[in-house]
Amino acid sequence: DILANYQGTALLEKQLSQKLGISRCIVLPGNADKQYRVVDSFGRRLNQLLGSILPVGQSMISVTGGSTLARVARNLSPDLSKNRQLVFVPARGGVGESVTIQANSVCAEMALKTQGQYRAMYLPEDISEKSFESLQKETSIKSVLELIYRSNVVIHSIGTASIMADRRNLSEKEQSIVDNGNAVSEAFGDFFDRSGKLVYKVPRIGLHVQDLDKIEHVIAIAGGQSKAEAIQSYMKNAPHHTVLITDEGASKLILRDN
Ligand code: F6P
Repeated sequence: DILANYQGTALLEKQLSQKLGISRCIVLPGNADKQYRVVDSFGRRLNQLLGSILPVGQSMISVTGGSTLARVARNLSPDLSKNRQLVFVPARGGVGESVTIQANSVCAEMALKTQGQYRAMYLPEDISEKSFESLQKETSIKSVLELIYRSNVVIHSIGTASIMADRRNLSEKEQSIVDNGNAVSEAFGDFFDRSGKLVYKVPRIGLHVQDLDKIEHVIAIAGGQSKAEAIQSYMKNAPHHTVLITDEGASKLILRDN
């Protein structure tokens, strides 16, 4: 029975990777919408995955915010720092979200749990184009940005567009671009529609989806049936080497959908 289960999951993971056009999917039991412990299991699986892919020595790990990653962070462990120096950095600037789910806080928690280090970047979410350009030249921001661009790992999540438009406090004008463009997913401040077309880009500092090609390990974490459509939409833009950690809830819906 255990073997049949294992084979079933392996097949599901393979079919999902093919459907999403990415190199690997890891599917965990359950539905994250209903059970928090599924998200904890994403964290433990991430810990294992990092343990198997991170080189000896220093690793620079960029992470995004959100409730998924905030919970995932709690499940990392100090064994990851054996023979390694881990530095966690926020993948994007922006402190618009509530403190507990900000990328800065996720970094701090990951560093605490792994006994690694972190660097924070405190920037307001809604800055003008002009201040955005001058801020990029500030020494404290520049030094974190340099670390971000040198990351060998990115850990990010994928959100539902409507929820993210609210959470990011988009202006009415921005909100209508997202609505009229029928955006369904969001990641790194980029909103995409069902076909994967970019609908709106929040002007912010840090990593964009197009930067991911240059980063050795890209790990996406998102689960729950409610994220199925968002995952599918985002993955149309994801680099092929992305590894997705998700659950049966999302996977089965994605595979059912043509
Ligand atoms: O706001 C940061 C972020 O990583 C978004 O890019 C993503 O859409 C969202 O959080 C996911 O949040 P949650 O895990 O709460 O759905």
